[in-house]
Amino acid sequence: MDAIDALMTTRAIRRFTDRPVSDDDLQTCLRAAQQAPSGGNVQPQQYVVVTDPEVRAAVGALYQQAYHRYEKALPEATFDDDEKAVAWRRTRDASRHLADHLGEVPALVLFLQPIVPWGAADEQGHMDIGRLDASVYPAVQNFCVAARALGLGTALTTVIRIHSAEVLELLGVPSRPDGLPRFEIAALVPVGYPKGNFGVAPRKPVAAVTHWDRWGSKRA
Ligand SMILES: Cc1cc2nc3c(=O)[nH]c(=O)nc-3n(C[C@H](O)[C@H](O)[C@H](O)COP(=O)(O)O)c2cc1C
Repeated sequence: MDAIDALMTTRAIRRFTDRPVSDDDLQTCLRAAQQAPSGGNVQPQQYVVVTDPEVRAAVGALYQQAYHRYEKALPEATFDDDEKAVAWRRTRDASRHLADHLGEVPALVLFLQPIVPWGAADEQGHMDIGRLDASVYPAVQNFCVAARALGLGTALTTVIRIHSAEVLELLGVPSRPDGLPRFEIAALVPVGYPKGNFGVAPRKPVAAVTHWDRWGSKRA
């Protein structure tokens, strides 16, 4: 499909059919992920692709606990109009559904990043060149867009980080000799065929958030 169409219709998919996802398709998405840019071309990410039903179920149980704890801690949402309230409830219900069924999604892809010092320093001090995860999320999005082009749904999720230690241990991810983790989870992406249709998700208008040449200067 056309690249712009794939980009415009890549959105969070949280309800999946049981149809399996082929290794070939997963490999295509991983190759697309590997083509993403990274600072200094360090390519810091590792992928753990979980398709084994028992391992998926175990990751799913941890995700479920993490999500429900997170949802309980969210502040009460308030809205100025009904449309926003309905949209919020729809996202919450879909998020709950994913949390309660993550272990049944055909493939779970974990994007790991090493915990390493990042940046540079000289006699003037530390230089802020951006965070290491800025070199991982482009790969995550490439993966999701490639999946969309193949008719596969995905959602970039991060609440699993609440149970990082358990997940990393479950997957046999090595830690440092002193026992501290060597990796953190940048994202957990469920992959499967969507139950609904792909579509263009509502967003703020580009004009509302774009400034030309200087802050506040707008073009139609
Ligand atoms: C950094 C990040 C973390 C996210 N974490 C979660 C998550 O843990 N669980 C979840 O269901 N969705 C998660 N999402 C998905 C967002 O809720 C979703 O992208 C947003 O609501 C827009 O959805 P839409 O593209 O379908 O409109 C995350 C998205 C991002 C970018």
